[in-house]
Amino acid sequence: AELYLNGEWLSPDKAFVSVFDRAFMFGDGIYEVTPFYCGKPFRLQDHCDRLKYCLQQIKIPFDCAILEHLMMQALSRSGLANSDAAVYIQISRGKAPRTHYYPEHAEPTVLLYAFPVVLENFHEKRWKVLVSEDFRWQRCDIKSTALLANTMSNEEAIAGGFDENLLVHDGHFTEGSHSTAFFVMNNTVYTHPEGPHILSGITRKVVLEICRDLGISYEERPVNIEELDRVEEVFLTGTTTQITIVESLHSKEKQIFTAQKGEITKRLQEEFLRRTR
Ligand code: PDD
Repeated sequence: AELYLNGEWLSPDKAFVSVFDRAFMFGDGIYEVTPFYCGKPFRLQDHCDRLKYCLQQIKIPFDCAILEHLMMQALSRSGLANSDAAVYIQISRGKAPRTHYYPEHAEPTVLLYAFPVVLENFHEKRWKVLVSEDFRWQRCDIKSTALLANTMSNEEAIAGGFDENLLVHDGHFTEGSHSTAFFVMNNTVYTHPEGPHILSGITRKVVLEICRDLGISYEERPVNIEELDRVEEVFLTGTTTQITIVESLHSKEKQIFTAQKGEITKRLQEEFLRRTR
């Protein structure tokens, strides 16, 4: 498998960036993960739009026009041209002497590579999830490579034998460390509204479209931790998570939610799978 770095296709052991790259020093970069099911891009425009939005928000000058072609090349160079796969894209501000302000003349560092995604039986996967405090920053809408709070949280979950975290800010659920959270109460699907406290997930958007198309009612509003006793289903979504059923939620001390039903999640999974085929 080859990866793309600043205009060249290289094997991973030959791909290097400067120690003065701002992604290394500051986490000053953004990334995107775009799925390709059976080799066909899934919601490519949405992923490109989010990437452009993030670049604009942190003022990295970069023309995204070449990315589609590079993604297709990354897939074929990794033997994934007809598979279920995803492409990781990372764009940092580039190399410059260390200053907190943005340097004037930095050339963005561009990295791209493809990796396989396993869709087989994802609907049978059930996660145990740790509820923990959302101590991330106030701009979670930017898909930044500065993911320390996310990795600290996820590490705590994995080390404790859980599969993911569900983050709580001011008494309500925001999202997972690398996934969007959904709740079902009384046949209505709930998810946190878009804005600075969550990443605008593309899978989130697809799930809400499916709800609309299947006539499942939904509301974009935060779910309070106190409402958990009325929650019947919880699921997490994302490009690498697809739609994953949450079997149980746990605080550090005890189990605080056990899945009651699963019908709505299953209907959404089936329709999601159909749309990727
Ligand atoms: N994670 N929320 C967070 C914090 C995420 O990191 C992700 C994706 C999502 C889901 O977004 P989408 O449906 O567009 O993939 C929500 C990526 C895949 C990652 O970090 O690997």
